[in-house]
Amino acid sequence: MRGLKDKVVIVTGGGGGIGGATCRRFAEAAAKVAVFDIDAAAAGHTATAIAEAGGTARAFACDITDHAAVQGAVAAAEEALGPVGVLVNNAGWDVFRLFKDSTPAEWQKLIAINLVGALNMHHAVLPGMLARKAGRIVNIASDAARVGSSGEAVYAACKAGLIGFSKTLAREHARHGITVNVVCPGATNTALFADYKRGAGNPEKLDEAFRRAVPMGRIAEPEDLPGAILFFSSDDAAFITGQVLSVSGGLTMAG
Ligand SMILES: NC(=O)c1ccc[n+]([C@@H]2O[C@H](COP(=O)([O-])OP(=O)(O)OC[C@H]3O[C@@H](n4cnc5c(N)ncnc54)[C@H](O)[C@@H]3O)[C@@H](O)[C@H]2O)c1
Repeated sequence: MRGLKDKVVIVTGGGGGIGGATCRRFAEAAAKVAVFDIDAAAAGHTATAIAEAGGTARAFACDITDHAAVQGAVAAAEEALGPVGVLVNNAGWDVFRLFKDSTPAEWQKLIAINLVGALNMHHAVLPGMLARKAGRIVNIASDAARVGSSGEAVYAACKAGLIGFSKTLAREHARHGITVNVVCPGATNTALFADYKRGAGNPEKLDEAFRRAVPMGRIAEPEDLPGAILFFSSDDAAFITGQVLSVSGGLTMAG
C-alpha cells in the first residue's frame, strides 16, 4: 500500500495479539513503529522481533488510561522516531460477565482502558497532526459494538462509544488532512479472547459456537487484521474517513 514507507506509526497494545501482528506488518511496509503497551516486556518483545527482522521499532511502556503518561510517551516516541503520521488505538481489555453480575469497579476499568485510553491517545497526537495537516487514525472497536454480545455489555458500550467518537472526529478534521476510521474484529485468537472464553466457563463450547456463527467457519487469527488497518493508514485510503469495517469472516454484515 502506498505512503507507509518511513511513516511513524504508534500502535497501542502492540505487545498483544492483534497489536503485535499489526506492528510487524507496518514494519514489513517499511514504517517506523512505536510499540506502546502497559506491559513493557511484551512491547519490548514485539520491537525486538521487528528489529531482528531488519525493521525499525521502539518499545514504549505506557498506560493509556493515564493522560500525563500518554503525553510523555508520545513525546518520547516523536523524539526517537519523528512526527507521528499514524495512530492505531488497539489496546483493549475485556471480561466476560453478565451485566446484572458486574460491578462498578469493573465498569470503570473497562471504560478507562477501552474508551478513555483512546481519548488520551487522540488528545496527544492531534495537535501535531493538525499542525502538519496530515494524519491517519485507526481505532480498533469490535463487532460487539455493532450487534451486541452477551457478557460484554459495558465493553460493547465502550466500543460503540469509540465508533461514535471516531465518526465525530472524522467530521471535525476532514478538512485538515486527518482521517479517522474504525476496524471491528470479531472473535480473534488472542489472550483477550482466551480470557473471555475462560470467564464464560466453557471455552470449548464457545469455540464451537463461534465457529458455527462465522460464515467462513473459523475464528480470526491476529494476522487477519493488519490488512484493513494498514489500508486505512495508507495513502490509498486518503478519501475515506468516518468508516467502520468488520474483519470477522462475515460474522456481521452491517449496511
Ligand atoms: N480478540 C478478540 O476476539 C477481539 C474481538 C473484538 C475486538 N478486539 C479488540 O482488539 C484489540 C486487541 O485485542 P487483542 O485481542 O489483540 O488482545 P490482547 O490481550 O492480545 O492485547 C491487548 C494488549 O493491550 C494491552 N493493554 C491493556 N491495557 C492497557 C493499557 N491500559 N495501556 C496500554 N496497553 C494496554 C495489553 O497489555 C495487551 O498487550 C482490543 O481493542 C480488543 O478489544 C479483540
